[in-house]
Amino acid sequence: MREFKILAVVVFFTLLVYVGVEPFAHSQMHAHVEGHDFVYDGTADIEEANTRVEKTKEALEKAKERLTEVQSIENSPQEDLVKAQDAVTKQENALAKAEETVTHKKSFWANVASIAQLDVNITNGEMSFGTCIACHNGAGINMGGVIPPNLDRIGSLYDKNYLIALIKDPAMASNVDHKYANTMMHPMGSVMAMVTSDQQIADIVGYIMQNKVGELEPKAAFEEACVRCHAVRYAKVTQLGDTPEFKEEKDALAHKIKVLDEQALVEAYMGKLPPDLSMMIRARSPHYMETFVENPQTQLPGTSMPRVGLTKENYEKVKTYLEEVGDPSKPAREAIGPWVILFFVVFTILAYLWKKSQWKDLH
Ligand code: HEC
Ligand code: HEC
Repeated sequence: MREFKILAVVVFFTLLVYVGVEPFAHSQMHAHVEGHDFVYDGTADIEEANTRVEKTKEALEKAKERLTEVQSIENSPQEDLVKAQDAVTKQENALAKAEETVTHKKSFWANVASIAQLDVNITNGEMSFGTCIACHNGAGINMGGVIPPNLDRIGSLYDKNYLIALIKDPAMASNVDHKYANTMMHPMGSVMAMVTSDQQIADIVGYIMQNKVGELEPKAAFEEACVRCHAVRYAKVTQLGDTPEFKEEKDALAHKIKVLDEQALVEAYMGKLPPDLSMMIRARSPHYMETFVENPQTQLPGTSMPRVGLTKENYEKVKTYLEEVGDPSKPAREAIGPWVILFFVVFTILAYLWKKSQWKDLH
C-alpha cells in the first residue's frame, strides 16, 4: 500500500512537470512561431513592422507618464525634466520611423506583387541577366562577405516573388533591412543601380523561371542555398564547398588556410561565424528549423542571417540533406531492425521449448 502511495506521488509530479511546467517554460522561452508556407508576399514582414509600432507606442506612453510625473513634482530638478522630455522625444522619433517602415514595406510588397503580373520579354530578360553574371561569375571570389552563389539553377531553387523582391531591394527581400540604412551598402546592393525598371526585373525573373532545370538533389539545394555561410563538418563541406582529397599534407594545410580566410570574411560580414550545421537538425525541432529558414527574424529577432527565399519543396530537400548528414548511421540501423526482431522471436520460441522440456518431469 505504502509503495502505491509513493508511486502515485511520483507519477503526479512527473505528469505535472511534463504536461504543465515544461510546455509552459518552453512557450515562454521560445514563443510559438507560425510559418507562412514559404509564401513570400510580405505578410510576415508587415506584421513584424506593425508589432514594432505597437511596442514603440507603449514605450512612448510610458515616457509621457514619466514626464507628467516629473512635472507634477514641485521643484523637481531641471535635470530630471530635461531627461524625461528627451525620453519622450526619442520615442516620438522612433514611432515616426517605425510607422514609416510599415508604409515602406506595404508599398514594397504591393509593388512586388504587381511586377509578378507583368508580361515578360524573355529575350530582354536574358540580356539584362548579364548584369547578374558580373558578380555571380563562378570564380569563387568573396564579394563583400560571401562568395556569390552560382545562378545556373536558381529558377528551380527559389520562389518567383522572392526573386523579384531580391532584385528590387536585396535587403528588404532578405528581411535584413534593419541592418542597412541604405541597401546600396548590401553586398548585392548595386544591382539596384543596374536594374532600374520594374519591367526589367520582370523580364529577368521571366528568363530565370523559363530556365528551370528540374528537381535538384538534396545536396545541391543545400550547397547552393546555405554553404556560402555554413560549414558541415560531418560531410567535409566548408564555406568553400566540398573539401577535395589531398595527397600531400602541405596541400591539405594550404586548403585549410583558405577556408580560415574565407570564414574570417563571412564572420566580419555576419558579425559572427554562422554555426556548423552537422547536428543542427537534431538540436532544433523540425518546426523551429522550418520557420527559422523561412524567416530567421521570427525566431532570432535582429539576426543577421538573411531570409534565403527557398520554395517549400526545396526547403524539404535541405532538410533531407541535413537529416542524412546528422544521422549517417540511420539506414544501417533501420536495415538491422528486422533482424533484431527475428532474433528475439526465435529466442523466445527456443526459451519456451527449453522451459517446457525442463518442467516436463516435475509436473
Ligand atoms: C548569408 C549567410 C547565411 C546563409 C546564406 C544562411 N545562413 Fe544560416 N545562419 C547565418 C548566421 C549569421 C547565423 C547565426 C544567427 C544568429 O545567431 O544570430 C545562422 C544560423 C543558422 C541556424 C541556427 C539558428 C539557431 O537557432 O541558432 C540554422 C539552423 C541555420 N542558420 C540554417 C540555415 C540554412 C538551412 C540555410 C540555407 C537554406 C542557411 N542557414 C543559410 C548565416 C547564413
Ligand atoms: C554587386 C554584385 C551582385 C550583383 C550585380 C548581383 N548579385 Fe546576387 N548576390 C550577390 C552577393 C554578394 C550575394 C550573397 C548575399 C548574401 O548571402 O548575403 C548574392 C545573392 C544572390 C542570390 C541568393 C539569395 C538568397 O537569398 O539566397 C540570388 C538568387 C541572386 N543573388 C540573384 C541575382 C540576380 C538574379 C542578379 C541580377 C539581377 C544578381 N543577383 C546581381 C552579389 C550580386
